[in-house]
Amino acid sequence: MAKIIGGITSSHIAAVGNAISQGLTQEPYWKRFFDGYEPAKTWLQQAKPDVVIVVYNDHGLNFFLDKVPTFALGCADIYENADEGWGLKPTAPFTGDAQLSWHIAQSLVEQEFDICTCQEMKVDHGFVNPIRALYGDHEQWPVKAIPLAVNTVQHPVPSAARCLKLGRALGKALESYPEDTRVVILGTGGLSHQLQGERAGIIDVEFDLECMDKIATEPEWMTQFSNAEIIRRAGSEGIETIMWLVMRGALKDDAAVLHKHYHAPISNTGAGVLVLDNQ
Ligand code: DHB
Ligand code: FE
Repeated sequence: MAKIIGGITSSHIAAVGNAISQGLTQEPYWKRFFDGYEPAKTWLQQAKPDVVIVVYNDHGLNFFLDKVPTFALGCADIYENADEGWGLKPTAPFTGDAQLSWHIAQSLVEQEFDICTCQEMKVDHGFVNPIRALYGDHEQWPVKAIPLAVNTVQHPVPSAARCLKLGRALGKALESYPEDTRVVILGTGGLSHQLQGERAGIIDVEFDLECMDKIATEPEWMTQFSNAEIIRRAGSEGIETIMWLVMRGALKDDAAVLHKHYHAPISNTGAGVLVLDNQ
């Protein structure tokens, strides 16, 4: 049977990809940020997942504003990255697991999550950068990856409560997959940040730390907030943090917190890494 062995969270700041490409990860500005990934990297080397399900938001590379699915699942055996601006150099393509994706899609629809299924999907920095931070760059990636895109870009955006429920449905979907597959769920985005407008640059460290704490140990806490309240506290892009709840919902209630790291500011963002063990 498939087994969810753990969950990880990571911000997906675009500039992280350039820092990796340019060999800057040990420079003073970046070192504290990348040091936060070391325990997660070590855990992944030991846990050896076969597949990482990456919960992220597309920022306009695959879906433009004329067509935005609320939830979209990649159902392909290959996913390409492409030039999306930011100066980012496209990575090698990622190998998917279409058979597992279709199983998840079937189960999610049966559980009343009527997701969009994508047999072609370009993956952007929201997907690529957390994998690069956790595995380093590769011409052949050492793990399969499945994209699960959540709309956090164009209103209406799903609620924190809905994302937690999606995670629980994803957990059930994986429990019923007959192959022996070791799965890690990676929730990307957040924490507080806003990239444009009058409040560009806002970061709320206190709210970020409370979100990290509660998502790890008491995720229902986050569902008390409307999206407007989250955006007021955490900024317009701070709403990306709801994607961590998809990861959290897929894990057991008592999953153990193995690692927690917060660093702000990095680029425009309060950045958090969580590693939860689900065994
Ligand atoms: C940054 C953060 C993001 O979530 C993103 O998608 C792009 C850039 C940043 O902090 O610069
Ligand atoms: Fe983003």
